[in-house]
Amino acid sequence: MNVDEALKTRISVRAFKPDPIPEALIREILEVARFAPSGGNLQPWRVIAVSGVERDAVIAIAKANLPGDEGERLVYPANLWDPYRTRRYKLGEDMYELLGIPRDNKVGRLMHLAQNFEFFGAPVGLFFVIDKAMGHGQWAHMGMFMQSVALAALERDVQSCMQEAWARMRTPLAVHFALGDHEMIYAGMALGRADMSKPVNSMRSDRAGVDEIATFRGF
Ligand SMILES: Cc1cc2nc3c(=O)[nH]c(=O)nc-3n(C[C@H](O)[C@H](O)[C@H](O)COP(=O)(O)O)c2cc1C
Repeated sequence: MNVDEALKTRISVRAFKPDPIPEALIREILEVARFAPSGGNLQPWRVIAVSGVERDAVIAIAKANLPGDEGERLVYPANLWDPYRTRRYKLGEDMYELLGIPRDNKVGRLMHLAQNFEFFGAPVGLFFVIDKAMGHGQWAHMGMFMQSVALAALERDVQSCMQEAWARMRTPLAVHFALGDHEMIYAGMALGRADMSKPVNSMRSDRAGVDEIATFRGF
């Protein structure tokens, strides 16, 4: 798969087959993803991969702690403004339309959201850990690492969904994983083989066009 193809075909998969993914394959993916760039080559990332009983344990922790709490590091700024607000809203509406869950079915929508905490059925979950003292730069570099993981996985026919939802479980997960006082979980990622028979995986999210996001000067 070439890079353009990988960038264009990676999607967030929200329904996985239960087929296990061996540790060796996850290691292979991380072996490649660790070449992601970071300012000053700090490599400000650490990964905890869970499968089997360890996956079951974090799912149980999430269930026991729902709805969780994001703490101080909010996933989105409060009172999101346009164009971001509209983009986020549209993503949700498009997804729930595919799932056949209308706006007034609050329970249905919450139940779908809760599937985040089962990794959407994926056999492997990753947690991305960062030092709390790191600043916005290093959080951005973590993002490069996560995208690298997703693309290296795709190359091996393993699909993914990045999951900030797990930010709601930072406190109980930090206890479970015995993280140091200086560490925190940024986000999770579900990894596995996509179940393409599920309508939710036909979701293709919009993107703003180049002229909306870029300015060209001096060409
Ligand atoms: C860091 C990060 C965290 C995300 N967290 C979640 C999440 O918790 N649950 C979810 O269903 N999707 C999550 N997403 C997926 C986004 O909604 C998705 O990337 C976006 O809508 C673009 O769609 P695509 O990934 O299919 O191209 C996350 C994406 C990123 C980059």
